[in-house]
Amino acid sequence: MPTVLITGANRGLGLEFVRQYQAEGWEVIATARQRSPELMAVGVRVEQLDMSDLDAVASFSAGVNRLDLLIANAGTYGPREAADADEAREWLGTFAVNTIAPYLLAKAVLPPVRAAGGKLIAISTRMGSIADNTSGGFLAYRSSKTALNMAWRTLALAERDLTCVVLHPGWVQTRMGGANAPVTPGESIRGMRRVIDGLMPKDSGEFFDYQGQRVPW
Ligand SMILES: NC(=O)c1ccc[n+]([C@@H]2O[C@H](COP(=O)([O-])OP(=O)(O)OC[C@H]3O[C@@H](n4cnc5c(N)ncnc54)[C@H](OP(=O)(O)O)[C@@H]3O)[C@@H](O)[C@H]2O)c1
Repeated sequence: MPTVLITGANRGLGLEFVRQYQAEGWEVIATARQRSPELMAVGVRVEQLDMSDLDAVASFSAGVNRLDLLIANAGTYGPREAADADEAREWLGTFAVNTIAPYLLAKAVLPPVRAAGGKLIAISTRMGSIADNTSGGFLAYRSSKTALNMAWRTLALAERDLTCVVLHPGWVQTRMGGANAPVTPGESIRGMRRVIDGLMPKDSGEFFDYQGQRVPW
């Protein structure tokens, strides 16, 4: 039975990843900073992990010998601007959660991922694409996801036997995406699971959306 580790699993896309992989028969390890009734109802192993606690992230152990898949999903918007030093510090906090913690977590679980010849996936966003940024705004979110993309490409080049990819889930109906988003969590996760399943070693270091289309950097 393959094993997947999913962060930010208490709601939104993380919870839907948990539900779908569990339904497919995977062993699921879910992390969340707070357990939600919805997550506990799925009946998978849940570990408390706040992605802003970099010591906890760096020392995280999945407690397994083989890990087939990491999905670094947890993410946060952060401040829309950095008008003063307080907002700038919040921006730094956004980098901790969206950029540095996923990278640190990937490094922390490398031994079981290497043992499984596994895949390391980070949930990024088209909003982190410099080429795609024609409207501006969302300073902390955009810049932290752009940096996540670069961190993941660097990871891919260091771990040439693994498959390391960043994914854009679409604009999805979650607390972050809002009710007007055109894509349901079910559709987004079914699409991303299909993309992840089909990834080949040559895809490592690349950026795809939930329908398998390449996203410009
Ligand atoms: N929805 C979209 O349209 C969309 C589009 C592009 C990319 N994404 C990306 O998809 C991923 C999931 O987003 P979503 O749409 O599911 O958003 P969401 O409903 O707002 O869920 C965000 C998840 O991240 C967790 N999280 C935030 N800060 C955390 C921290 N410090 N430690 C641990 N967990 C933390 C949240 O946990 P709490 O409940 O504890 O806050 C929650 O589980 C994110 O990386 C996001 O950037 C979403």
